Amino acid sequence: MIERSVNLVVAVSGASGALYAASFIRALCKNVAGQSSLIVSPTAIRVHNQEMETRITSAQEYIESLEALIPSNQRKHTFTLYDHMDVGARPASGSTHTDGMVIIPCSMKTLSGIAHGYTSNLIERAAEVTLKERRRLIVVPRETPYGLIQLRNMTALTEAGGIVLPASPGFYQNPKTFDDLGDFIASRAFSLLGLPPLIRGWQE
Ligand SMILES: Cc1cc2nc3c(=O)[nH]c(=O)nc-3n(C[C@H](O)[C@H](O)[C@H](O)COP(=O)(O)O)c2cc1C
Repeated sequence: MIERSVNLVVAVSGASGALYAASFIRALCKNVAGQSSLIVSPTAIRVHNQEMETRITSAQEYIESLEALIPSNQRKHTFTLYDHMDVGARPASGSTHTDGMVIIPCSMKTLSGIAHGYTSNLIERAAEVTLKERRRLIVVPRETPYGLIQLRNMTALTEAGGIVLPASPGFYQNPKTFDDLGDFIASRAFSLLGLPPLIRGWQE
């Protein structure tokens, strides 16, 4: 169990794969002491409702519904919610220290905004700041198939120091549930952020 207080920027955008965000946030809440910033795009809420069969109407309801999955006396992590369009909020500034940022899942639109430095909202601005401050940025894109534009955007983001972690869970650990698949991706993101992995690696 990690002892230091972890401070990430966690962003959820409107790609399919709401499960991955839920797994990551739930695992952070349960296993990692700290306080992170959370930014949720409006389309992320729409996709979450469709995929998780919920009727959430705001980012506040979104995080409350995920936190409710962990008993309050077992929660180690808290989240400060920021408005998706508030480009003047704390994560928009390089002087706000963080331990890195994850965008899970990452839409092709958000990927494009970051790769081209077109910061039209707080997720894209916080990602730009994370890269310019040479902090760790992990994006979890979800699309299939990838076209040339998306592949070029992923290359540009990688060249700028970001890490592309495709929403492609492995099946060698014989997943039994959707949560197993979500935990696989959340665990890979944890490892890349220097956090203890949630599941064992290949042949461990
Ligand atoms: C149900 C649903 C599923 C979607 N799935 C994806 C997806 O898998 N990948 C993607 O790049 N965009 C997907 N989109 C489109 C994005 O939501 C759209 O491009 C949006 O503008 C992204 O905005 P955001 O990145 O600010 O959240 C989906 C949209 C909806 C409504």
